Amino acid sequence: MRYNWYLKVVKLGGSVITLKDMPMTIRYDVVKQLVSELADAVKGLPDLKLVIIHGGGGFGHYVVRKCLSSSGRIDSMCFSETSYAMTLLNTSLLKELLGVGLPVVSIPPHTVFKAEVDGRVSYDKNLIIEYLVRGLIPVLYGDVVLGVDSFLVLSGDTIAWLLAKDLNAHEIIFVTDVDGLFDKDPKKYSDARLLKYVRADELVNLEFSQSEYDVTGSMMFKLMEGLKHGVKGINVRVVNGLVKGNLYKSLHGNSSIGTVIKY
Ligand SMILES: Nc1ncnc2c1ncn2[C@@H]1O[C@H](COP(=O)(O)OP(=O)(O)OP(=O)(O)O)[C@@H](O)[C@H]1O
Ligand SMILES: [Mg+2]
Repeated sequence: MRYNWYLKVVKLGGSVITLKDMPMTIRYDVVKQLVSELADAVKGLPDLKLVIIHGGGGFGHYVVRKCLSSSGRIDSMCFSETSYAMTLLNTSLLKELLGVGLPVVSIPPHTVFKAEVDGRVSYDKNLIIEYLVRGLIPVLYGDVVLGVDSFLVLSGDTIAWLLAKDLNAHEIIFVTDVDGLFDKDPKKYSDARLLKYVRADELVNLEFSQSEYDVTGSMMFKLMEGLKHGVKGINVRVVNGLVKGNLYKSLHGNSSIGTVIKY
């Protein structure tokens, strides 16, 4: 069934809500700013339905990187520690979201998502739909999940794409720590050029670099995932959440903010 609602998926990147190169440090000033912009946008757009997803930043990525370097894989103890770290970040964020009056509900991905034999990720989308129908804002996050005979990382980016496709979202807004999508990594190249509008089929021509702190592939993975999942007919925005007002304006459809990528 297709839902004719006005649904936006907002992914709050771990790069913006945490310090990615430090263990377990939340950027509370940024978080407070972003949640107040979310609350203002929801107030001003009564038809808007929201799903919020957050990344792992210095929580999930940090713990997974640590266990990958010591044992080379995610074992049961690593699974447990990663899901715990993500629960801590999620709880702190939920407290802030509740504090600005948003009716949020946490849906820990390790309790609903699972990788199948063919590599697909299965979950009960009706549960999320029902929360939305009942007026709640589901909050999910990058997490560890059960694979067939292993434990896997399911990134917040992948969850954003799966939900956008399955729930017929209007758009995805990726909130990050850079001004948008550049022709090459702006953190590495001072002459990187910000792109304002890109067709998804043009992504292969860009230069992406991998982050040493990101176990799920940084900007390239984030945007290529949409092609992998065959998402079509939606706009995706990449915006800088460190700039006050950007999230609010992009929720209002202001396309002067960041990059719009047309899938
Ligand atoms: N061509 C590019 N344009 C823009 N950013 C790029 C590019 N190539 C690499 N990057 C990097 O991608 C980073 C954003 O992705 P990253 O995965 O680190 O953040 P995130 O997804 O917000 O965090 P998390 O995975 O914790 O949720 C930027 O900080 C930037 O340095
Ligand atoms: Mg990332």
